[in-house]
Amino acid sequence: MSAATRPIGVFDSGIGGLSVLQALQSALPHEHFVYWADSGHAPYGEKGDVFVRQRSLAIAQHLIDQHHIKALVVACNTATAAAIHELRTQYPQLPLIGVEPALKPAIALSRTQRIGVIGTRGTLGSDKFHRLLSSLEGQAEFIVQPCNGLALAIEESTHIAASASSEKITALLRGYTGQMGAFGHGPGQIDTLVLGCTHYPFISDLLRVHTGPNVHYIDTGAPVARQTRRLLNAAGTLNTSTELGDLQLFTTGDLDSF
Ligand code: DGL
Repeated sequence: MSAATRPIGVFDSGIGGLSVLQALQSALPHEHFVYWADSGHAPYGEKGDVFVRQRSLAIAQHLIDQHHIKALVVACNTATAAAIHELRTQYPQLPLIGVEPALKPAIALSRTQRIGVIGTRGTLGSDKFHRLLSSLEGQAEFIVQPCNGLALAIEESTHIAASASSEKITALLRGYTGQMGAFGHGPGQIDTLVLGCTHYPFISDLLRVHTGPNVHYIDTGAPVARQTRRLLNAAGTLNTSTELGDLQLFTTGDLDSF
């Protein structure tokens, strides 16, 4: 198999990274993808760095050994914060793309300069995130809200009744957005919300109930897809086929719900 026709590996603690995969497939339709949902070990956000790092390294090794991936997208903010450094050290030759809360694009978009950031405790408590925040000090006010339990509730929505799941998610969102202050476009209001967890784009409709319809939501799918293209291009391994690529999906959790 030539380097260009090998697949791109994508992983997350569960279904969240599918929001990134959508953007990847639409930007790179001729690439083959292997998606790995580590749902059997989700959620990552409340498990601590050592565990998340160990899972990330094990998944990367598996994707390299069994699927001969040519690049790896860490489609999880929590795993990126905990493990991207070790992954880069361990696999210096492998193009690696991580995701982090998109604070800079939020500054460019916000008019009130009051920006909400939601994500897991792991991501928002990480040194990596704190370094990013400090590098932007003075450019906007960031209202940072860890959302314990939210990624898990979204993950569980694949196997519990829709009404029970949306009730649970709504209760969590009401609590968390309530603590952040007023949303809107008036002075002092949060007009831009960074979705700092790849699970959250799937609940944007439920989130709108609490933030109102006009707040900007920022996720990382499209920039990650652009960065993946850049790295493949630089490595000379973009798939130049004109056929649509394949997708293989794997989960460490329950196959039916996935
Ligand atoms: N989707 C992941 C993220 O972006 C992880 C969520 C979790 O498992 O806690 O942070």
